[in-house]
Amino acid sequence: MPKTRLDLARIRAARQVIDPVFLDTPLYRCEALEPDLGCAVSVKLETANPVRSFKGRGTELVASGLAENGSRAVVCASAGNLGQALAWSGRGRGLYVTVVASRFAPAAKLDRIRALGAELELVDGDFDMARERAAAIAERDGVRLVEDSLDVETCEGAATIGLELVDAGPFDAVLIALGGGAMATGVGHVLKARAPGVEVICVQPGGAPAMTLSWRRRQVVTTDSTDTIADGVAGRRPIPAVLDDLLLVADDAVLVRDASIIAGMRLLFDHAGLVVEPSAALGVAAILEDPDRFAGRHVVTIVCGGNVDVDAYHRWIGATPLPPIREVDHGPESHGRVSP
Ligand SMILES: Cc1ncc(COP(=O)(O)O)c(C=O)c1O
Repeated sequence: MPKTRLDLARIRAARQVIDPVFLDTPLYRCEALEPDLGCAVSVKLETANPVRSFKGRGTELVASGLAENGSRAVVCASAGNLGQALAWSGRGRGLYVTVVASRFAPAAKLDRIRALGAELELVDGDFDMARERAAAIAERDGVRLVEDSLDVETCEGAATIGLELVDAGPFDAVLIALGGGAMATGVGHVLKARAPGVEVICVQPGGAPAMTLSWRRRQVVTTDSTDTIADGVAGRRPIPAVLDDLLLVADDAVLVRDASIIAGMRLLFDHAGLVVEPSAALGVAAILEDPDRFAGRHVVTIVCGGNVDVDAYHRWIGATPLPPIREVDHGPESHGRVSP
């Protein structure tokens, strides 16, 4: 059992608290992706819920705890998806939710935060500046600050994905988008406890590598800026306690190019019918960049969010031709095609 801040019994109990709309998400083998990726691929679909990301699992825990304590208000910083999820979970429990986000966050995410009834404050900077502002508001107003990945509920909520994976396994590897680390530490904790043979691989964009570099050097590494289309994972300042947990549960952390993320989004659209945001294509991007590593294995990628600005999405996937494909002969009945 890894000695992280997380607890398997609490993670199991979380399933009773989280609204079932976020639980037991589809998990299926997606054979149509396989010719291009060269391995068996299953997708865990975290986009088919009211906030179109996995973050509702954690905010359900946070909000139910607050409601039990009689709290009336809560504030968080968000790249967009946590805020949306907290707005959803808070609304159902009568909480006054304030979300602080970067004014450069995708408009689709900001619009949904407002539509769900939260107060949205925008900062003229990035996600890490929003974190500072949210902390200041919490201090000023004496309300609970939800810190994604630091607050253990956010990790244990995400960890319920891991329980569902273990029940559906076996798999050889799981690819997890890495931002602040709630999802990777959560899912990783459960896999290491219950299915230690499964390789836990975190994936980050090369343009926002702080947590990956920190994992590799076993100490916090910060960066001055980020440069990636994967807005959901673009942090600069890893949280030390989360890094400590990640060191215990991740087998690897890899960086991918934005061009591969776009190719992954395109493949998920063309072959799986999925509209995903860039962070949700990180796993497919990792396979595209290192196919030999995954050849012959069964890999799960967590499709973790689908909140994307439509114009940007069209720009990205419209400009990306699919890799050329060629016919291969699998025998008389076959119509299979694979990449050269
Ligand atoms: C779609 C999506 N993927 C991945 C992440 C990264 O998750 P974490 O911060 O738990 O590492 C986020 C974070 O908000 C996200 O919204």
